[in-house]
Amino acid sequence: MEIIRADKAGFCFGVKRAIEMAAKASKNGDAASLGPLIHNQQVVDYLTGQGIQVIDSIEELQPGAQLIIRSHGIAPAGYESAAHKNIPLIDATCPFVQKAQRLAAEASKSNMLIVVGDRNHPEVQGILGWAGSHSRVVETLEEAQRLSFFSKLAVLAQTTLPRSTFLEIVEELKSHTEQLIIYDTICNATSERQDSAAEVSERADLMIVVGGRHSSNTRKLESICGKKCPTHLIETADELQQIWFADVRKAGLTAGASTPDWIIEEVYKRMSEILENKDNEETMENFEGS
Ligand code: F3S
Repeated sequence: MEIIRADKAGFCFGVKRAIEMAAKASKNGDAASLGPLIHNQQVVDYLTGQGIQVIDSIEELQPGAQLIIRSHGIAPAGYESAAHKNIPLIDATCPFVQKAQRLAAEASKSNMLIVVGDRNHPEVQGILGWAGSHSRVVETLEEAQRLSFFSKLAVLAQTTLPRSTFLEIVEELKSHTEQLIIYDTICNATSERQDSAAEVSERADLMIVVGGRHSSNTRKLESICGKKCPTHLIETADELQQIWFADVRKAGLTAGASTPDWIIEEVYKRMSEILENKDNEETMENFEGS
């Protein structure tokens, strides 16, 4: 029996960087992040243990505490408010998101900017803040079809958007303007993890996806794998059930972009123990039957 691990799984570059910056900041005094740093309760609990609070607004920050901006980034108004109150900032905005923010600020000066993505996602809300009023969000092809005609349009994407969705909407936008400037701001970390999970689930009899139940990228991995073989989403190794592995010869393992290596390793170890026990039981049964 075998465990096949997805070669691209777990923390992406931007999330890893944000956690490291937060952990370093906590050594220099009180710190709080504006919203949970990551969609993973175990990591949030770990960071809370390190003295990093989660707050919903700058007003909740304790006097003198450092403010951590998470990888999704924030709108310029947040920086202005922090500067006005002399709040020390730890800016963990992912450099790929920063690039999208810079492009949004630039492109919206002379074009109507379309941001393709989830309008409720903090990254998109931050980007819209950089673009100002000369921008709007499009989530679906149907929304793009309802747009009127503009002399000039620019378009960019939420970094985690599937490229197929972006291309489909870009194609539609071409018929809504005389001039379209396209900025492909999609980060490959998401698609690499999805491709890797799909490839493993093709070969496995069962997939284990490790990650937060509230993490959209983890749930997406669950849905991709679930199309190929029985799939279970778990947050920690304790949730693994021996019964899932009853008829399994090859078990696949992947993890969302907000899952730390230590949780993935714990799950891998527990899966190895389950499969080893199963091998031993089968050997005993064969021995007794011979
Ligand atoms: Fe950054 Fe890409 Fe991760 S944009 S936060 S490296 S998914």
